[in-house]
Amino acid sequence: MSILVVGSTKGGSGKTTLATNLAVLRTARRRSVLLIDGDKQENSLSFTQLRDDNLGNIGFAAVSLRNRLLSAQGADLAAKYDDTIIDVGGQDNLSLRAALLIAETVLVPVQPRTYDILAFQQTLEIIEDARAGNPHEIRVCTILNMADPAGRDNEEALEFLKGIEGIEVLGSIGRRKSFSNSSATGRAVTEYQPRDPKAIEEITALEKEIYKEED
Ligand SMILES: Nc1ncnc2c1ncn2[C@@H]1O[C@H](COP(=O)(O)OP(=O)(O)OP(=O)(O)O)[C@@H](O)[C@H]1O
Ligand SMILES: [Mg+2]
Repeated sequence: MSILVVGSTKGGSGKTTLATNLAVLRTARRRSVLLIDGDKQENSLSFTQLRDDNLGNIGFAAVSLRNRLLSAQGADLAAKYDDTIIDVGGQDNLSLRAALLIAETVLVPVQPRTYDILAFQQTLEIIEDARAGNPHEIRVCTILNMADPAGRDNEEALEFLKGIEGIEVLGSIGRRKSFSNSSATGRAVTEYQPRDPKAIEEITALEKEIYKEED
């Protein structure tokens, strides 16, 4: 059993994109998967609805749980699945804090920009707060998302993140149209045509790193 929280206090960093892609990739590995939408925008549920509309076969279970219900019900539900993925945040709120109380691993997507990196530090503080109430050793991972192909920004951001103690930096995912286009039809980037080999490689590498202890 695993519980992954894809969370950050920063809006638009790619939480829903990564959470939904990981849900599909884990399902493709024949794992039973629960996707919990902890955001009142319910974008992960919209993805799931689009998936049903377009593919007629979702493959994973999806529910919406927020605020205290997220910690109160989330752990019991997660016990019934191989992999639970929680999409939460966009700001410091009760749902993010509740999810962190049951997290085993937290993935914080960060865009290589100054304000996002500042928000990342705020997210780390909230994770530290959660440790007192969480029975697990929380594993904290980060990934650069929407990295631009050229320029020094990526390297500088990666260097900065690697300098923070106690977190794993899992590389980067480029800004690629295939991620937004595939999400718009309820598909992971691995299911998208025309194939985007770089995007597939990036998301597959992320999944391997996150779940290396599970598989
Ligand atoms: N790697 C990527 N390449 C291109 N577009 C991306 C990538 N990751 C995310 N996006 C796009 O960026 C936008 C924001 O992503 P997403 O909705 O996943 O972020 P979020 O953190 O869940 O946002 P919110 O805080 O509003 O919930 C979306 O339009 C999404 O399609
Ligand atoms: Mg979202």
